Amino acid sequence: MVVEGIHMHTGSDIMDIDVFLQGAEILLSVAKDFKDLQYVDFGSGFKVPYKEEDIETDIEELGEKIGKRFKQFCYDYGRNLTLMFEPGKFLVSDAGFFLVKVNVVKQTTSTVFAGVDSGLNHLIRPMLYDSYHKIVNISKTEGRHRIYNIVGYICETDTFGVNRKMTEINEGDILAFHNAGAYCFTMSSNYNSRYRPAEVLIHEGKDYLIRERETMEDILKNQINIDIFSEHKALQAPAMDLNPENEVIYNNITIEQKQQN
Ligand SMILES: Cc1ncc(COP(=O)(O)O)c(C=O)c1O
Repeated sequence: MVVEGIHMHTGSDIMDIDVFLQGAEILLSVAKDFKDLQYVDFGSGFKVPYKEEDIETDIEELGEKIGKRFKQFCYDYGRNLTLMFEPGKFLVSDAGFFLVKVNVVKQTTSTVFAGVDSGLNHLIRPMLYDSYHKIVNISKTEGRHRIYNIVGYICETDTFGVNRKMTEINEGDILAFHNAGAYCFTMSSNYNSRYRPAEVLIHEGKDYLIRERETMEDILKNQINIDIFSEHKALQAPAMDLNPENEVIYNNITIEQKQQN
């Protein structure tokens, strides 16, 4: 077997470049034992800011440090190899916004809920691993602010954000979720037979529909009808006979006969 490449993926949200470099050292210590390598792939996991105060992986510093280290590795290895990365969210996370419409605003004694026409089937990250997506009311960008819990339509305590201070929400308002370019649509599902939404690309001020909203036909299209019940047709429910004196007959087979079969 010829091993052409060696790879690592440290996982998301590298805050400290040195942690990434330590991982890279481990990968390189393994890589040196494979003599036919064409490339070394350092994966990704570069952090993007989700909250205002969040940091972003300093990609320039990382590039500089890993570039220098990789050059040294190639020198020791005896030839040049390709250096690879697999950036996902770092490239596309903040390029996407997820838009939902507010169906209901409900005041309870402790909080105000804004219920939207979406749920964890469209954006599962908050419910799956408690991730934070900034949410803004783009129907009303100014005015007084209130605190809201933004909730979805799925029954499993479907919650997108808790205690979010935002401009006052009215039914019909559109809310925009930030950082929906990565791990939003790709993690979506048809759970509860819900459709995935359309996707619109905005390019130089112009909008282009780049994905149609799903329909029930999309949900059903891969289902296959099978005829496993035909052999039991004899057991089709009879017309209800309410007279207990009468014998119940299934398609001319009496219950007694059926049990013998
Ligand atoms: C093997 C591999 N490479 C790259 C990535 C992208 O990571 P990120 O989106 O954090 O940049 C992932 C994400 O899960 C992954 O599993």
